[in-house]
Amino acid sequence: MTFWHQRWDDNQTGWHRDVVNDLLIKHWPSLNLEQGINVLVPLCGKSVDMHWLVQQGHSVTGIELVETAVEAFFSEAKKTPTVESLGEIKQYKEGKTTLLQGDVMAVRPTMVSSGAWYDRAALIALPSTMRPAYVKQIRALCQPGSTGLMITFSYPQNEMQGPPFSLPDEEVLRLFEPEFEVELLERIALEDEKQRGLTSVHSAVYKLTRT
Ligand SMILES: C[S@@+](CC[C@H](N)C(=O)[O-])C[C@H]1O[C@@H](n2cnc3c(N)ncnc32)[C@H](O)[C@@H]1O
Repeated sequence: MTFWHQRWDDNQTGWHRDVVNDLLIKHWPSLNLEQGINVLVPLCGKSVDMHWLVQQGHSVTGIELVETAVEAFFSEAKKTPTVESLGEIKQYKEGKTTLLQGDVMAVRPTMVSSGAWYDRAALIALPSTMRPAYVKQIRALCQPGSTGLMITFSYPQNEMQGPPFSLPDEEVLRLFEPEFEVELLERIALEDEKQRGLTSVHSAVYKLTRT
C-alpha cells in the first residue's frame, strides 16, 4: 500500500477543502481561456474545484492514484459515472468530468489532450526528485500553447518533512523554463501555517504557458 492509499484509508486528508479555492476563483480569468477547453487536474484528489471548472464551461480531466478518492468525488456529488478500463488506468466519466484513476505517469497522451491545467497541491505533493518527470508529463498531456494555473507552497525544507514538500520560486523557474513561459501572479505570506513550527511559509500563484 502506498503512502497515499494509507492517507485516504485513514481519512487523513487535511489538504481537502469543502469550498472552492479562492485563488482559483481570483486568478482563473487571467488565463483568458475559451469555454469548452478541457482542463487537466493532475493529482486531483476529490477536489470540489473540479465542479467549479465545469461550471465555468470547461470539461475536466482529473488524474488520481487512489480509487477511494475517485469514488468519494462522485458519490459526494451524487453522480454515477460510467467506468471503463484502459489498461493500467481506470476511466470514470460523468457529464463533462472524467477522472483517470491510476499513476499520473502511466497516463498516455491518447487518453487526454488538454488545453489548460490546474495544479493545486499536486507538484508540492511530490518530492524534488520526481518533479522533472511530472513536468515532462504535463507537457505531454497538454497541447502547445496551453496555459496552467499553479499554486505553490514554500518553507525552509529542513524544518518539516513533506508532503507538502517546499516548492521555492527558484525551483519553479528551474523546472519550467524554457519550455514554459512563467509568470508570477501573486505571492502570499501564510502566517497561519507557521503553527506547524515553520519560520516562514509562502504561497505563490503562477501562470504557466507551454511554448
Ligand atoms: C495533497 S493531495 C491534493 C489533492 C487535490 N489536488 C486537492 O487540492 O485537494 C495529493 C493527491 O495526489 C494523489 N497522488 C499522489 N501521487 C499520485 C500519482 N503518482 N498519480 C496520481 N495521483 C497521485 C494522492 O492520492 C492525493 O489525493
